[in-house]
Amino acid sequence: MTKQNVLQTLAAARAAELTSKERAIALYVEALAADYANLEAHNALERMRAHESFGRWMLMNCTIDERDDIFKFFAAHPSSLNPFRDYLSDGWRTLSELLLLLEAVDKPLLKMNAVLEFAAGFGRFTRHLVGAIPGKVTCSDVLPGSVEFLQREFGVKAFASSHHPQDLQLKPEYDLIFVLSLFTHLPAHMWAPWLQALAAGLAPGGLLVFSTHNEEDAVVRHGVRFDKSDMHFIATSESPSIDGEVYGTIFTTRGYVERAVESALGQPPVLIHERRFWEGQDAVVVRK
Ligand SMILES: C[S@@+](CC[C@H](N)C(=O)[O-])C[C@H]1O[C@@H](n2cnc3c(N)ncnc32)[C@H](O)[C@@H]1O
Repeated sequence: MTKQNVLQTLAAARAAELTSKERAIALYVEALAADYANLEAHNALERMRAHESFGRWMLMNCTIDERDDIFKFFAAHPSSLNPFRDYLSDGWRTLSELLLLLEAVDKPLLKMNAVLEFAAGFGRFTRHLVGAIPGKVTCSDVLPGSVEFLQREFGVKAFASSHHPQDLQLKPEYDLIFVLSLFTHLPAHMWAPWLQALAAGLAPGGLLVFSTHNEEDAVVRHGVRFDKSDMHFIATSESPSIDGEVYGTIFTTRGYVERAVESALGQPPVLIHERRFWEGQDAVVVRK
């Protein structure tokens, strides 16, 4: 089917929604078979709770926003045969990785009352987190539209973030502030102000969990050569929408991470679990 045919099939599906749900579903399935990463068809099947929808068996909201760069990453990846399945199961993976990490520091997720998922994007992980601790999740990101999407689709509390950490005035209310793959992008001079702004939101005994690129992985997989600074910043990222100088890619040694936490927060991390998240990101845990 050509791109034009896919567009025609989608238009026919939209029209069929008014008269025959079965016909509409069949047309969306046809469009998806011809264009395997078609978000309009996917989201329509989710909305209609079609037999083919992911939400029926994953028991959660599987709607994906058109602006979601992480979904686009899967959709463009040469190894991805089904980007929807890859994207949705990737969030499950994060949930299991986080659950194990929190068990290791004796602070189980299910016992928490208030959790902030900072830098939540368009909810790759949020949808899984709300299933585990409904009513207890707050989210934040800078991407236009993300806050509204997260609130509407997953029923979380959410607020818009800023590129200036001083704008973030968190109350000390969270048992966990989880920040997956933001410090992997922030330039070095922004680490201390962000660590301080986020740690201010922790309730007594609360945990700040963030991720960094694993040192060995940086050298072996990415060919990074660390100099005396123990970090290596490149002003590009996966995001076409955020300035690379503000949100680039940063590789760091473990020593750099330990010193950065100690100097910003006056105490070292209680745990660094190497390669805990995704393929090569270390989990850094700081306890208030
Ligand atoms: C690599 S993505 C990870 C998204 C999400 N944590 C996940 O696991 O799917 C990094 C996210 O950081 C967000 N971000 C960048 N600068 C930010 C800031 N100053 N405040 C909050 N979020 C920010 C980006 O918009 C993006 O959604």
